[in-house]
Amino acid sequence: MENMDDLKKELLAEVEKASDMKSLEEVRVAVLGKKGKITELMKNLGGLSVEEKKEMGKSLNILKSDVEKALDAKKEELATKELEAKLAAERIDVTLPIRPEQQGRIHPVSKIYEEVVAIFGEMGFEVAEGPDIEDQFHNFNALNMPANHPARQMQDTFYIPNPDSDDKDDSFVVRTHTSPVQIRTMENHPLPIRIIAPGRTYRSDYDATHTPMFHQVEGLVIDKTTTMAHLKGCLYDFVKAFFELDEIPVRYRPSYFPFTEPSAEMDIGCLKTKNELKIGAGTDWLEILGCGMVHPNVLRAGGIDPDEYQGFAFGMGLDRLAMLKYGIPDLRTFFESDVRWLKHYGFLPLDESSMTGGLSNNGGLAR
Ligand code: DAH
Repeated sequence: MENMDDLKKELLAEVEKASDMKSLEEVRVAVLGKKGKITELMKNLGGLSVEEKKEMGKSLNILKSDVEKALDAKKEELATKELEAKLAAERIDVTLPIRPEQQGRIHPVSKIYEEVVAIFGEMGFEVAEGPDIEDQFHNFNALNMPANHPARQMQDTFYIPNPDSDDKDDSFVVRTHTSPVQIRTMENHPLPIRIIAPGRTYRSDYDATHTPMFHQVEGLVIDKTTTMAHLKGCLYDFVKAFFELDEIPVRYRPSYFPFTEPSAEMDIGCLKTKNELKIGAGTDWLEILGCGMVHPNVLRAGGIDPDEYQGFAFGMGLDRLAMLKYGIPDLRTFFESDVRWLKHYGFLPLDESSMTGGLSNNGGLAR
């Protein structure tokens, strides 16, 4: 029988000698593995007398536990060493400029999206989302547009067959506006509500200012005492921040939307000349969004009691805002994936939009 102390010294020395994880694992297998030294010794206990077995068993267990402890400690030491070596090898100076120069550009729609989120985020709005493929309840009915409502004809809808039903009323649509997110939010969000819902929308339309896929942002505020004055203040602050102007003339024209009552369209003051559109002053008006107080039927459809709560909503085209703010004449070019166009109209990826750091970074087009 080997001397336990010598054996312990020998085994611990082997553990200590291991210089990396691989050799440490080899030591572990050689000592504690199925055919390891200690395992073999334990197997031999069977041939001993009861007394010897008891004593030897105990010493072996202590030895085993000492070796395990040493293995664990060594493992941790090696892991730390390996991590430190890796960190040292992968060290980079994050203050160095990018090489080669950054080539990618942020699409104007993404830029406008970020700007709108930054402005409303500052006002305390959350971003809400809904699916591109909608059912007719959320896209139409719940928004006070039952089947055969004339307003449905105003939106050239793409329908998607419902595999479970032949009834046309059950077919799905690709959402014609972001307004269905209003309903989904009312269904799921605790009151009060203050959200914007930016996203893709679809209508069968194609010319210089219309594409079958485009982008809108919806806004919805619902609380017990929300009024039209809040709507006007909120949107006035928005346009000033968005066009980065201290003052901007605005007016609200009475309008009609099935989901709001009263409804209005908001215009901003501008100057239109032959070759230029200057926003913020002048004698002309430019329509930029639709808005109104949420119709009681819409609140009801969203499960909210219109006798207790009221609110306002608004909707605007993100692409149209991009065209106006950055002077891009044809909407169709937005979606042609022409790299030269993107290089001309796109934005540098590191110029983030924020209310404190600058929205468009001084018109920082990557030109
Ligand atoms: N959904 C409307 C459209 O696509 C835009 C709109 C107008 C949304 C008025 C609103 C609103 O929430 O109040 O033309």
